[in-house]
Amino acid sequence: MIINFITIFPEFAESFTTFGLIKKALKKNLIKFNIIPLRDFSNDSHNRVDDKPYGGGPGMLLRYEPIKKAIDSVGNHPYNIYLSPQGKKIDKDILHKFLNIPEITLICGRYEGIDQRIIDNHIDEEISIGDYVISGGELAAMVMIEALVRRIPGVPEDIDSILSESFEDGILDYPQFSRPETINGISVPEVLLKGNHEDIRKWRRKMSLGATFSKRPDLLKNVKLTKEDDKLLKEYVDERKNK
Ligand SMILES: C[S@@+](CC[C@H](N)C(=O)[O-])C[C@H]1O[C@@H](n2cnc3c(N)ncnc32)[C@H](O)[C@@H]1O
Repeated sequence: MIINFITIFPEFAESFTTFGLIKKALKKNLIKFNIIPLRDFSNDSHNRVDDKPYGGGPGMLLRYEPIKKAIDSVGNHPYNIYLSPQGKKIDKDILHKFLNIPEITLICGRYEGIDQRIIDNHIDEEISIGDYVISGGELAAMVMIEALVRRIPGVPEDIDSILSESFEDGILDYPQFSRPETINGISVPEVLLKGNHEDIRKWRRKMSLGATFSKRPDLLKNVKLTKEDDKLLKEYVDERKNK
């Protein structure tokens, strides 16, 4: 997968490539990351890429021309994504779609955003990380890249660990514990210590369903529960009532 990253802060984007799974994916040549500094496409002697919005109002806007030139510098026409609070909220389905696109270009806005003519004529999709506004598209792009890269086979050590995570099958992940077995009198659930795989599977499923029921009941509306799921969820609810 090739990821082009258009930004006024190339150093910020660069620093992101030196840690964790992104670093690993780059080392294994599973992704290619091209940072495209927007200021390289300024026609201004001070390398400015912003200007005042027509009609007045606060703040500055990233101008059409430098962004268009930066997009064109990629050469072909990859899928152009503008990170924007007005975009579709990123989720697992959107990530799966992007994973099947061999090359994407991420356009990071700043200030009041970017000239609308870029969005109308050169953007394939606007993507948001949530209903709040941050100061620039860079962190939003990084959130998206991190979520994408950890789904590329060969990047994480164990792709199964990714597939059992929250949202993958529509519900939340189960609780997990590591050493020590007891801490301040609080012990790891007994079932996890006994080594019976079927009991552990059922317990984990019950706790996943229970966590979803308690924290994100909205998710359960979109999941088709099996008879076993119904039974496990009922058990979870009854156990909670009796506590
Ligand atoms: C201060 S914001 C501009 C917000 C814009 N004036 C609006 O109200 O829709 C500057 C840039 O940050 C990025 N940004 C802000 N919030 C975002 C979000 N929730 N998701 C993705 N990108 C975001 C966008 O690239 C945007 O152009």
